[in-house]
Amino acid sequence: MIYRNPGSSFRNLVAGTDVKIPLANGKYVTGINFDNAATTPPLSAVIREITQFAPWYASVHRGKGYKSIVCSDLYEQGREVVREFVNADKRDVVIFTKNTTESINMLAYALAAEKEQVVLTTDMEHLANDMPWRDKFTVDYIALTKAGRLSLRSLESKLQAYEGRVKLVAVTGASNVTGYINPIHKIARLTHQYGARIFVDGAQWVPHISVNMRPPDSVEHIDYLAFSGHKMYAPFGTGVLIGPKATFDNAIPVYQGGGAVGLVSQQSIEWDDPPAKCEAGTPNMMGVLALITAIETLSKLNLNSIHSYEQRLIDYAISGLLTIPGITLYSIRDGTEARVSLVSFSLEGLHHSQIAEILSQKAGIAVRNGLFCAHPYVEKLLRLSDEEIKYYQTHDDKKLPGLVRISFGIYNTISEIEVFLDLLSHIASQRQYYANKYSYVLEHNRPGGDGKRADFYC
Ligand code: ALA
Repeated sequence: MIYRNPGSSFRNLVAGTDVKIPLANGKYVTGINFDNAATTPPLSAVIREITQFAPWYASVHRGKGYKSIVCSDLYEQGREVVREFVNADKRDVVIFTKNTTESINMLAYALAAEKEQVVLTTDMEHLANDMPWRDKFTVDYIALTKAGRLSLRSLESKLQAYEGRVKLVAVTGASNVTGYINPIHKIARLTHQYGARIFVDGAQWVPHISVNMRPPDSVEHIDYLAFSGHKMYAPFGTGVLIGPKATFDNAIPVYQGGGAVGLVSQQSIEWDDPPAKCEAGTPNMMGVLALITAIETLSKLNLNSIHSYEQRLIDYAISGLLTIPGITLYSIRDGTEARVSLVSFSLEGLHHSQIAEILSQKAGIAVRNGLFCAHPYVEKLLRLSDEEIKYYQTHDDKKLPGLVRISFGIYNTISEIEVFLDLLSHIASQRQYYANKYSYVLEHNRPGGDGKRADFYC
């Protein structure tokens, strides 16, 4: 496949893309970041905005000083920018959190009522959209097809089997392991037919494709949505939770303190209305500024253009990976799948941590390896038995299972993918040499290691 324009017209919009990093041999090269599903670098516009606004920074919702008013207004306007970005309803509240994980935990606490109520999540979730439900609801998991995609048949049969007890279907918009995009509006339709609501984990979805929550009177409406700034070029620690205000009206917030209340005595609390009620403590105004700047920039670039550019990248990468002997891809390509710009793979004869290390040390390529905080999904893709999982949980003498993942952002290029594919082909052709040279090292044996296995980190 020959590309006449191997560059990205988006590249100069992102900070740090030309930064040189050292290799194991002491030489410096321009780093290649294929770990955007974990965290993206900031947009230059975000850094500019933060720097320009810094002299105006002051307390939000806590003062009548001029700068305080400017900051408070900007923070509140941020909610409207988010609302418009995903077409949330006027009756929804936009709550600012720290990240998607915090958003989901917050929603789980707000919805928790009786343990008999059922939350259906899925076999392909990030732990953040699995663990918070477990201790508050009866949780069941929608199964996968043979190709590792979500089975709508399984969803429907579980909705039927629970006979109206399903309160929520909690599903990812796109998988952080296989990149599969779920048919969210179809899932919403089914969910609503059975009287349940739908929550979508948008962490890997919202940054890559145009998302529309659709109006509440549509059966395809998304009831709740969460996503993170740090996966969409806006660091500084802001996430979002969106949902009907009524959900949060009577719920006791997870975090309690100043900013969430009206008048408090030692005997009584007057709660403020959501979203303020859900945002105790000084709000992260700079984080919100970063997020809305990123939203405005991505919207101007057009999410559809971003999606098609990133599709070219991932198609090219997958085509190249398929030509390398010993590679197994953990998502199929049959022309019908919808995916975001990431894929996971393994290379026979080398452990995932070795591959990640070689790519980094030899070419300055950053990838993710391990279980990607989606342990049950990776365990299923690798067909691990319960006994094997138990063994890994109770012994740290064994190399942990896992995969290698590459994930692209708007600034990645075909040329970078070529560097990656060339090196990976070379590694594949010299597997024995590399297996001996980069023997697997447990983290606690490394200088500065903290005693934990690196692959456990999410
Ligand atoms: N769980 C995030 C990822 O997929 C951090 O890398």
